[in-house]
Amino acid sequence: MLMLGIETSCDETAAAVVEETGDPARPWTVRSNVIASQIPIHREWGGVVPELASRQHIRDICGVVEQALGEAHVAWKDLGAVAVTQGPGLVGSLLVGVAFAKAASVAAGLPLIAVHHLAGHIESLVLQNGELPLPAVVLVASGGHTSLYLVSEPGQYHLLGRTRDDAAGEAYDKVAKLLGLGYPGGPVIDRLARQGNDRAIALPTTRLTHADRNAPERQGDLDFSFSGLKTAVLRYVKGRPEGSSLSDAEIKDICATFQRIVVNALIDRSLDAVRRHQAKSLGIAGGVSANSRLREALEERGRARELPTFVPSLELSTDNAAMIAAAGLRRFRAGITSPLDINADAALPLEP
Ligand code: KG4
Ligand code: ZN
Repeated sequence: MLMLGIETSCDETAAAVVEETGDPARPWTVRSNVIASQIPIHREWGGVVPELASRQHIRDICGVVEQALGEAHVAWKDLGAVAVTQGPGLVGSLLVGVAFAKAASVAAGLPLIAVHHLAGHIESLVLQNGELPLPAVVLVASGGHTSLYLVSEPGQYHLLGRTRDDAAGEAYDKVAKLLGLGYPGGPVIDRLARQGNDRAIALPTTRLTHADRNAPERQGDLDFSFSGLKTAVLRYVKGRPEGSSLSDAEIKDICATFQRIVVNALIDRSLDAVRRHQAKSLGIAGGVSANSRLREALEERGRARELPTFVPSLELSTDNAAMIAAAGLRRFRAGITSPLDINADAALPLEP
């Protein structure tokens, strides 16, 4: 079966066609994966402007879907269903995809499948690598989320920990902004960090040991916090003598130190979760999984523990619709379809 996926939760208008393989170990293959990025539009403002994002989605959605069908060499009649990101994300952006998918579902007579954006990121690991050895711990680290999940059965996601404040990608973007490095911050900090000394300056590491007052049912010691680190970088930059600007070497050292602390926090908590739940594998997905130091550290520390580790390809780590089509196929095969009165939900929870 062929699934059309549509993703418009933030600043990428994306459509993809994913096909079932018939092989239970490697269930899906990408036929096309088209992304119209809005980065150049938002760069001018230093971050995503929601109103501009939704207007651009409206301009791009029809062409992006047509291109995805064209590159996959399929027509509407060849499709089996349409999957769309229902949330979480920017509500105006989500609405464009949801409205398009509903219309397509009616016009082409296809079942509609609402998908959670983070389920998409988690399933990007399976799309890339085949089914993970279960139980698996999966970290989703992006611009909007930093959450740890236990996947005990295919398609069952149980939240183990999450950030109490900034997402990891958001911390990258904010630190890049205050260093004057532009948007998005992840790729540029990643590049500069490789030329810096990661012990050159003193920045704090946050380790949460107590339950979150807003979620007392969780133990809370697998949670993350990045806002203190971001504030420490801000204080370091502001604390310089009047009129003196940061040298290129200093900026590289800040990037390297910041990146070391973020990567260690992400990997340490993920490995804590693996130990606690005796997981058989560890995956990291989401935009931040494109980070070179994170990928190296995951590989190295996984190998040292004989723990299989997984990341998506770079194309499948940042927002895309192939992962939404894959998560849609997972739901469809579990017998789940969505009624036509679904609405976009900016704060959609992943767990039932
Ligand atoms: O998953 P994604 O495309 O969108 C969200 O769902 O948020 O993730 C985008 C985030 C941005 O914050 C960006 O700075 C970050 O991923 N990112 C990176 C890297 N590439 C993208 N962060 C660290 N290192 C990278 N190489
Ligand atoms: Zn995302």
